[in-house]
Amino acid sequence: MVKHKLVDEFPPVTRDKINTIINRRQTMKIEKFNFPSQLLMAPMAGITNAPFRALIEALGAGSTTSELISCHGIGYKNPRTIKMLTPHPAEQNWGIQLFGEDARAMATAAAIACEFGPKFIDINAGCPVKKVVGKGGGSALMQNLPNLSEIIVAIKKVISVPLTLKIRIGWDHNSKNGEEVVRMAADCGVDLITIHGRTRMQQYGGLADWEFIENIAQKKIIPIIGNGDLRTASTIFQHLQTTHCDGLMIGRGALRNPFIFLTPFDDGNITFDSIDYWNVIQVFYKLMASHFDSERIILVQTLKHIVWFAAGFNNAAHFRAQIYREKNIATVLQMGEEFFHANAHIQQQNDHAYEGNSDDDDEFLNNGHG
Ligand SMILES: Cc1cc2nc3c(=O)[nH]c(=O)nc-3n(C[C@H](O)[C@H](O)[C@H](O)COP(=O)(O)O)c2cc1C
Repeated sequence: MVKHKLVDEFPPVTRDKINTIINRRQTMKIEKFNFPSQLLMAPMAGITNAPFRALIEALGAGSTTSELISCHGIGYKNPRTIKMLTPHPAEQNWGIQLFGEDARAMATAAAIACEFGPKFIDINAGCPVKKVVGKGGGSALMQNLPNLSEIIVAIKKVISVPLTLKIRIGWDHNSKNGEEVVRMAADCGVDLITIHGRTRMQQYGGLADWEFIENIAQKKIIPIIGNGDLRTASTIFQHLQTTHCDGLMIGRGALRNPFIFLTPFDDGNITFDSIDYWNVIQVFYKLMASHFDSERIILVQTLKHIVWFAAGFNNAAHFRAQIYREKNIATVLQMGEEFFHANAHIQQQNDHAYEGNSDDDDEFLNNGHG
């Protein structure tokens, strides 16, 4: 298996652990897709920027996807949008996700997006946010299949990379039309579909309905990726044994545990401890600093990931309260280093990181665009 360039950026202690597990991944070779793992990183607004995607690919994700990008923003060649389209040189299997409601604008945007070299273009038909849905984009596309099919056909005409679609299981409890959408999209030429196992009305509440996802996947209409609530290595391992899906997509789990694409393949001998987490932050910070000019973006992003990684280690709540006050990146990095070193050789209590934490970043993790 080809090694990811960035693995060499990690100090030997972490690099050796990564290299030991990474070759145990199962590849995802299906139809037009050839990814080194069946575990894929979910698109996440404000999170899956180029440096994060490059990092998470080096840490074992089979593919990554940009955050949702407005087709209109691309059409206007807005500089912020162009930056969102620009990959990191180390990225290999990454895609660009577009959102919008107008077939012509979506096709124009897809053609421009392809100039940046993604391996696939993805249509967002899952975003539940009012601002997007109100204009007919995101999950509203699942309620307007003639429009969705028009968008698919228009994009297929102008791109040569595969086209993928990300949906939810339906709009609400009474309209779970996921299978109908899958059949229609497959007929129109979509190459792969990711299903987030919730309805639009559920937003991020309740649990993902894996029975619904598996029921569609076992019909083998088109390659299916299952998504929702895969947050721990043991859950992912179990799903990999039984799923009819061609791959599994992980979102929030990777924000707490960047090793989540590797640990399901561990045989119990490798433990990533707080020093490994700190090494990930250092690589991430370097990638951010070389990709973005804005000190604010670098600070906010680095701080966010430090705080998410800290959950589940000793003293995380106190640390979070302290570090959120900081405005200086050098101090933030120093505080992070002290925290993770103070937790040296402790394994993250991952299962607890999602319980009883009613802080603001947990609330943030219950909001999103898909
Ligand atoms: C903060 C946040 C941002 C998200 N942004 C996007 C997005 O831009 N596009 C998208 O299709 N889904 C987006 N999602 C949904 C995720 O891709 C995924 O479907 C969802 O989080 C369920 O997977 P998980 O339980 O593994 O997190 C977002 C979710 C969150 C929490």
